[in-house]
Parts: sequence; C-alpha cells; structure tokens
Amino acid sequence: MSKKEIKPLAYDAGVLRGISQKTVEIHHGKLYAGYVNKSNEISDKLGILRESGNFEGNQTYSELRGLKQGETFAKNGMYLHENYFAILGGDGVPRGEVKQAIEEKFGSMDEFFKYFSACGMAARGWAILAWDMQEKKLMQYNCDAQNHGGVWGCIPIIALDVYEHSYFIDTGSDRAAYIKAFFDNLNWDKIEEFYQKAKRGEVE
Ligand SMILES: [Fe+2]
Repeated sequence: MSKKEIKPLAYDAGVLRGISQKTVEIHHGKLYAGYVNKSNEISDKLGILRESGNFEGNQTYSELRGLKQGETFAKNGMYLHENYFAILGGDGVPRGEVKQAIEEKFGSMDEFFKYFSACGMAARGWAILAWDMQEKKLMQYNCDAQNHGGVWGCIPIIALDVYEHSYFIDTGSDRAAYIKAFFDNLNWDKIEEFYQKAKRGEVE
C-alpha cells in the first residue's frame, strides 16, 4: 500500500487573520496529521485482513466493519482538510472564472457568502462548495461528519470545516465570526486552480 504523506502548510501558521496560530497548529499538526496517519494504518490493516482471507462481515460488530467505518472517516478527513488548508492564506479578494461561476449561480458574491455562511451554521461538520461532475456545475453540499452526507462524483472546491476544533479557541461559540474569518483568509488563486482542475475531472 502506498503511504499518504502529510502535506505541509504553504504559509506560516501564524499569518491568518482571526484564526490563531495555536488553532492552526493543533488543527493541521495534530488533527489533520492524525487523519493521514490513521488512513495509512487502516489501509495497511485492511490489506492484511483481505489477503488473510480470514474476514467476517457482521454489521453489529466485526473487525471488517470497524475498519470500513474508519476508512471513509479518515480518508475524507484527510482529503477535506487538505482542501481546507490549501485554500487559506490568501487576501480574501474573490477573482477568476470561479468568481464568475459563483456569481452566475448565486447572483452575487455577497449572496454566495450569505448563503454559504448559513450553510456553515446549519452543518455539524462541513459546508462544501463542490464541482459536481454529474451536474457539471458548482453545487453546495453539507455533511455532518466526514463520511455522512458526501455526494459521490463531487470534487471539493471550498471546504469549510465547522467542527468546533476549527474555532472554539478563537471565537468561543461564535461560529459566524469564524466563518467570516475563513472568508477573509481565502486564497482565490488556489480556489481558481482547483476549480479549473475539477472541471477537467482532476483533483488537486
Ligand atoms: Fe478539522
């Protein structure tokens, strides 16, 4: 099995406005890294179990069930956090074709931010602007956990993490203030890059 590597931050953990260095260091260095490490561990264990031929499928409890539950949680956690950290560190000024596509879909950037912020308030895990390969357009989806609510055939363009670990140190229970800070730190050149790649069916 090929091991996934922890992707380093492309910016200093202390540069974000309204999201502290401590939050970024814990979120990236411990939580995201934990998903990468667990994804690798689960992948190894599933490989060994499958090759052993000694697996039992039981939906109440089985080693296979435990690993399969962990597999999608860890892997989606890894992928979504990689998008989240990659699209931060910018000046927050929307630009590019992706801006035009968002304006066409939502009416204006203000309307998009208003709606996406509300979706972030309504989610228990993630609010995501994704390129939907079935619809061939940008769609907004929420998921309450990394493996609950994702739509297959979608490539995340803007993944907003709304788990409390993303903001509680900085804004307490004021999630809206964190979402505002998230928008203010977006790197729209990176978002444009992901949008263009996604339209070609490529993931970062
Ligand atoms: Fe997170």
